[in-house]
Amino acid sequence: MRRKIAAGNWKMNAMQGDLAEASSIANHPADAIDVVLCPPATLLAQMSALPLGTGGQDCHANSAGAHTGDIAASQLRDAGASYTLTGHSERRTDHGETNAMINAKSVAAIDAGLIAIICIGETLSERENGSTLTIIDGQLAGSIPDCATALNTVIAYEPVWAIGTGKIPSTAQIGEVHDHIRAHLQNRFADGNDMRILYGGSVKASNAQEIFAIANVDGALVGGASLKAADFTPIMDALAKA
Ligand code: 13P
Repeated sequence: MRRKIAAGNWKMNAMQGDLAEASSIANHPADAIDVVLCPPATLLAQMSALPLGTGGQDCHANSAGAHTGDIAASQLRDAGASYTLTGHSERRTDHGETNAMINAKSVAAIDAGLIAIICIGETLSERENGSTLTIIDGQLAGSIPDCATALNTVIAYEPVWAIGTGKIPSTAQIGEVHDHIRAHLQNRFADGNDMRILYGGSVKASNAQEIFAIANVDGALVGGASLKAADFTPIMDALAKA
C-alpha cells in the first residue's frame, strides 16, 4: 500500500500573516495521509514547527558555497523540511533547468536526507503534437537519479498547460500518463511499485474525488488551492477517503 500525499506548493506567495492558514491545515485531522506544504523559504522554519510535513520548492545541486540567492538541501533540512520539490515546470522555464540539473539537485536533496518530489510534465504544444509520452520518458530517464527509492523520491506529474489555468486533462489522459510512469518506475527500480506518483495542475475540491479515483494517482501537488485551509482541507478529505 502506498501512503497517499496531499502536497501544497505555495510558490512565491504568502507572508507572515498567512501562517494562520498553514496552522489550520496542520490541525485538520488527516491521520490516513501525509500532508506536506512547500512554502517560500521565508516561512519554512516557522511552518516546520507545525504538525505537518514541509518542503522547499527547489534546492541547489551543491551542498554549500558561493551561490548567491540559492538554497542548499541541507539548509532546507536545517530549517525543518523533510521534502523538497525539484524540477517544477516554473523552474524549468524561468531558470532554464534541464533534466540533468534536476537530477543533480535531486541527488543533493536525497543526500541531505530529504524526500525529492521530482516534477515532470508536457507543454500544451507537446500534448497537441502527440509527444507527451516521449517527453515524459525523457524527463523520467533524465531527472530521476539512480539512487532514487520509494523512501526518498516521489514523482509529480504536472502537465504545464494545466498549471494555474483551470484546464485539466481527462481522467483517461491522467490515467495513461500515470500508468506509463508506473511502468517506467517498475522497470527501473526494485521498489518502483512503491514509489508515489502525484498529479498536479488545477486540482480543486470540486475535481479532487474524480482525480483520486484514477489508478496510480497517489495524491496531489496543489498550487492555488493549497493557500487557504478552506480550499485545501476538502482536498485532504477527498484523498483520505479515496
Ligand atoms: P495549480 O494547482 O495552481 O494549478 O498549480 C499546480 C502546481 O504547479 C503545483 O506545483
